[in-house]
Amino acid sequence: MNSSEPSANERLLDPSKLPRHVAIIMDGNGRWAKKRLLNRIRGHEKGAEAVRTIVRTCRELGISILTLYAFSTENWQRSKAEITALMTLLERFLESERQELMENNIRLNAIGQIERLPNSTRRALKEIMDLTKDNESMTLNLALSYGGRDEILKMVRSIADKIKSGELEPEAITSEHIVENLYTGQMADPDILIRTSGEMRVSNFLLWQIAYSEIFVTPTLWPDFTKDEFFKILFEFQNRERRFGRA
Ligand code: FPP
Repeated sequence: MNSSEPSANERLLDPSKLPRHVAIIMDGNGRWAKKRLLNRIRGHEKGAEAVRTIVRTCRELGISILTLYAFSTENWQRSKAEITALMTLLERFLESERQELMENNIRLNAIGQIERLPNSTRRALKEIMDLTKDNESMTLNLALSYGGRDEILKMVRSIADKIKSGELEPEAITSEHIVENLYTGQMADPDILIRTSGEMRVSNFLLWQIAYSEIFVTPTLWPDFTKDEFFKILFEFQNRERRFGRA
């Protein structure tokens, strides 16, 4: 990573109190394009550049997990043209980031209904997931055809299967059984959930995992989200008191 001089906001950060896991709902690509009288696809393209910046920044700071909501189960209802453009953009992103992911020891992992993605996208994902599987400095989770309720449904079905086969007693179910059947498995839960473009919703994202996440909503549209705004959020996070339900 080419590390330039830290900005004033970066210098305020306490390196010992950084989050382990940051999750982001990247919203506002369409509005960014509309404001400029551009096609929505241009907004997604610009959004992909913001993705690159934030992945790099997390790696430079030493954040271990970054989870990005790139395509939700609801997004299948968008026009065919927009879905195709998003998938193509994702494939191009996987190809162009390949070297940087390897050089920076970043593992790319996909979470969601990967089987619903087009063949070419699945192939590109599989290739990069295989290539980066032993990288240990950071995990980049791309949530693709992801829905929190769908994830919970899938988890319930696999636990129910174990009960049906006699492998597990209902009374013996613990949160461990739940966690191990979620896409995120044993990963630490997000410390921070960021949502861009101002909406006060969690939109079916990581419903189990965000139980104790600190939530930050910014009016900034995703393509305009900068490294510096990210530092400001991290600074505010470091100054919030997390009690996890304790007094
Ligand atoms: C929300 O904006 C964004 C998405 C549905 C897709 C997110 C995709 C990217 C940021 C680009 C590609 C991603 C990668 C990983 C390369 P919206 O279209 O809902 O915006 P709107 O609410 O303003 O219409």
